[in-house]
Amino acid sequence: MRMRHKPWADDYLAENSHIVISDPSQYKGKWHSVFGNDNPIHIEVGTGKGQFISGMALQHPDVNYIGIELFKSVIVTAVDKVKQSEAPNVKLLNINADMLSDVFAEGEIERVYLNFSDPWPKKRHEKRRLTNHAFLQKYEQVLGGKGAIHFKTDNRGLFEYSLTSFSEYGLVLTFVSLDLHQSDFEGNVMTEYEEKFAAKGQPIYRVEAEWRN
Ligand SMILES: C[S@@+](CC[C@H](N)C(=O)[O-])C[C@H]1O[C@@H](n2cnc3c(N)ncnc32)[C@H](O)[C@@H]1O
Repeated sequence: MRMRHKPWADDYLAENSHIVISDPSQYKGKWHSVFGNDNPIHIEVGTGKGQFISGMALQHPDVNYIGIELFKSVIVTAVDKVKQSEAPNVKLLNINADMLSDVFAEGEIERVYLNFSDPWPKKRHEKRRLTNHAFLQKYEQVLGGKGAIHFKTDNRGLFEYSLTSFSEYGLVLTFVSLDLHQSDFEGNVMTEYEEKFAAKGQPIYRVEAEWRN
């Protein structure tokens, strides 16, 4: 993702602290109180500019969504998307996903979405891939060993890697599509990257992988 330095980003995030939660670890184990209900909490890791999370929040008002994005210069656009949507059931966190277990208690989350995650094709960068075992361990912890990962990508290499990674980790694949937009899957909410790749005619790969204990 192309990023421009935005010197105003810190102030903008502070002004919108009702959407972008600062110091999120203070809410570990208490996220339902942040939303003021007991609805399930789903997170998207690598939210980018926020189109997916805002769209999902409107489509599923009975689910609470938390978008996690590393870069301030990107998450500011997600803040705007959430504001425009007026969805009350979305929060954003400007953190690295490797902090997940500092921010969420075991079992506090019910689903993890990964959309168009950076592919990191070089072998020496494998640990940065968000479907690597080290990240699966973090998701497993906050999911409490149940729930699911829903993953979409345009990148065939990352998709193949992820299917293997999920299977080796012991996850059960309950949905696999090699061409999501030509499949009968209903309720798809497109991400910014998805729109871009779909416009070029590229197939979108999608998998759901579940913990079954
Ligand atoms: C290729 S973009 C895709 C954005 C969006 N999901 C979409 O489909 O349009 C990947 C995003 O993941 C974020 N990201 C990558 N690694 C991350 C991490 N460890 N923690 C949080 N965000 C991360 C990047 O900053 C980037 O915004």
